[in-house]
Amino acid sequence: MCGIIAYIGSRTAEPLLLEGLKRLEYRGYDSAGVAILDGDSLQVARAVGRIIELEDRLGEIGGMGGTLGIGHTRWATHGGVTEANCHPHRDDANGIAVVHNGIIENYAALRTYLVGKGHAFSSETDTEVLAMLIGELYEGDLEESVKAALREVTGAYAIAVICAREPDTLVVARKGSPLMVGVGNGEYVVGSDASAIIAHTTQAFPLDDYNVVRITREGFRTSTIDDAPVTPQVMQLEFDLEQIELGAFSHFMLKEIFEQPKVLRTTLRGRIDHNEGRVVLGGLTSFAKELVKARRFILTAQGTALHAAMIGEYLLEDLAKISAEVEYGSEFRYRNPIIEDRTVVVGVSQSGETADTLCALIEAKDRGAMSLGVVNVVGSTMARETDAGVYLRVGPEIGVASTKAFTGQVTVLTMLALYMARRRFMSPDVCARCLKQLDAIPDKIERVLESDGHVREVTERYVGRDNWLFLGRGYNYPTALEGALKLKEISYIHAEGMPAAEMKHGPIALIDEGMPVVFIANQGRQYNKVLSNIAETRSRGGHVIAVATEGDTEITKVAQEVLYIPECEEYLSPLLAVVPLQLMAFHAAVLRGHDVDKPRNLAKSVTVE
Ligand code: G6P
Repeated sequence: MCGIIAYIGSRTAEPLLLEGLKRLEYRGYDSAGVAILDGDSLQVARAVGRIIELEDRLGEIGGMGGTLGIGHTRWATHGGVTEANCHPHRDDANGIAVVHNGIIENYAALRTYLVGKGHAFSSETDTEVLAMLIGELYEGDLEESVKAALREVTGAYAIAVICAREPDTLVVARKGSPLMVGVGNGEYVVGSDASAIIAHTTQAFPLDDYNVVRITREGFRTSTIDDAPVTPQVMQLEFDLEQIELGAFSHFMLKEIFEQPKVLRTTLRGRIDHNEGRVVLGGLTSFAKELVKARRFILTAQGTALHAAMIGEYLLEDLAKISAEVEYGSEFRYRNPIIEDRTVVVGVSQSGETADTLCALIEAKDRGAMSLGVVNVVGSTMARETDAGVYLRVGPEIGVASTKAFTGQVTVLTMLALYMARRRFMSPDVCARCLKQLDAIPDKIERVLESDGHVREVTERYVGRDNWLFLGRGYNYPTALEGALKLKEISYIHAEGMPAAEMKHGPIALIDEGMPVVFIANQGRQYNKVLSNIAETRSRGGHVIAVATEGDTEITKVAQEVLYIPECEEYLSPLLAVVPLQLMAFHAAVLRGHDVDKPRNLAKSVTVE
């Protein structure tokens, strides 16, 4: 949720750190800071707000020399958004500076101990405690003091540490919060995700929990906090710079909405065997026998991924006839859940790092469940912790409001349901027909995107309204939830999503003259029931914005506004219906003058519980 960048090499660190921070800014944008060693002089600059504020601050002081440094962009957990709470935090006695992602859970006890030792704190953060602890334990070897400090810590961390007494050494470590080391030519770039590294090298290795890496310009050495040697696997990063740059688009969110046809083709590529009428999911091969015997699926996720998981529940029950349910990871974990024999738990996540989801997966595994990951980020913690999985392949998602990851998750879950169905009972012919329909979805999304101008006009008419409802039934009940979430997240308009039928059990009281009520009213089993709910809304003065199937003229008689999507099978309709809702949220945020890609208070990836 915060971003870390660190550099050691022969180039001037400052511009490199700033560029890395800008690429990481989507992970946290409350405040930012850098610490750079110029010889044995430790220089620190920090500023509240966006990276640009930090750049200005550096400009005022005339910039910094030095080829070793650390940087951080913060999403506040402990302590408010103030300069004193910005990273890097320091132990001035030894010239130590630390940047940290995660939460040190026993920081209060450690702080009391350190105050007893005479340390004076200038921030409210858990990270400053860590900096002081490393300083307190420092006996001339930074790596040793970092390890000694981490042995005292409970909680999660990814850290990068420098020390003025060792101007040629960078020490980084991880437990529970991602960090990777990019290996360049005589230089190393460390980042909390690959987007900070990719401009400099495509060779990198992720740290495992409890790993500590000592990096000098000559090389690196990895070991555990208990000094056991570790041999990391350097891998090739599979994406390029273009994927994390805006190109012709004004915002990452818009770019990612428009990218959906292209990336979903990649999600599907090589996974559909039309001749044999089957789905080929390489990541499940070693697990296929156990999967087929599964009696129950539990899908666990948070946020947008939870809405995708809900669609997954419908798909698994409807297509594969397997009992399935969806759980918020955060609730599942602490509920003393019952895991029966032959239960498969599926973690659905863009980042693969969401702490609530990860903890639920681990809990279920400990209770004997088989585990699958439906994850986007390759090599992420969830991808590594699960028994098997299927990657989304939608490329890096930078916009904080998730869009292409949602359609990627639903596409993968559709393939998973068809994979299960085919292995259990579905004939090759029926499966082939379904796969043909799925394969046609990217083209149909392209058609939906052509109506962007119309979506904008409709949004403009209602953007002044402060309360919205999103209603749908069956497969599109989760779509309604996602539509409401998107609008809330980036335009700060109050919106609620719910099953269309539920409206009359209470929320109907909210409807007053002109209230925008978005109905997902595509053709399907419950179309007529949705029409009844529309009538109930209209008679209370609500203004209906309907997402409907092309060719439906009936709907124009009852809805004030209609956003059309191409005709498709009901089980695939969320993949189309969500697109105008994504666009609507985007336009609402722009029209209200908000920073679409960095919505207030939100973090892209929430790595704390
Ligand atoms: C955060 C983000 C949401 C996201 C959720 C789950 O809350 O702000 O946009 O849907 O985490 O993220 P994941 O990476 O697990 O899909």
